[in-house]
Amino acid sequence: MTLFRWIDFAVRGDERGFLVVIEEGKNIPFEIKRVYYIFGTEEGVARGFHAHKSLQQVAVCVRGKCRMILDNGRVRGEAWLDSPSKGLLVGDMVWREMHDFSPDCVLIVFANEYYDEGDYIRDYQNFLELLL
Ligand code: TYD
Repeated sequence: MTLFRWIDFAVRGDERGFLVVIEEGKNIPFEIKRVYYIFGTEEGVARGFHAHKSLQQVAVCVRGKCRMILDNGRVRGEAWLDSPSKGLLVGDMVWREMHDFSPDCVLIVFANEYYDEGDYIRDYQNFLELLL
């Protein structure tokens, strides 16, 4: 399974600027139960450092940029989230870390479940063991 799965959002542009539409079941391949956004991240701060037992998410950096690390226990890779027209799909049992947030970074995340701390795996060794 490819680690970095991208969704290209159509950008509607005219002389006034740009607009992107996010629609459940159309360009987001799951039911959207929750949306959250991360902004105002201080310089040098990294976030994430967890996986989810059962959660589908799409992350979109609508302003600025940050560097996303994904790790499925076999392969670790990284990519910049730096475009309001690109969504990154992150599914179950993928370790994620976000680094190098630009001061203006606004990262929006769409998720198919409500927040549940019990779904988090916050220890990397535990994550690897659960994959066995
Ligand atoms: P956390 O998931 O640790 O952030 P990140 O992985 O981006 O570093 O969440 C930070 C805090 O916000 C934590 O106390 C849990 C809370 N939170 C919610 O209450 N609801 C949510 O949907 C999310 C994502 C976090």
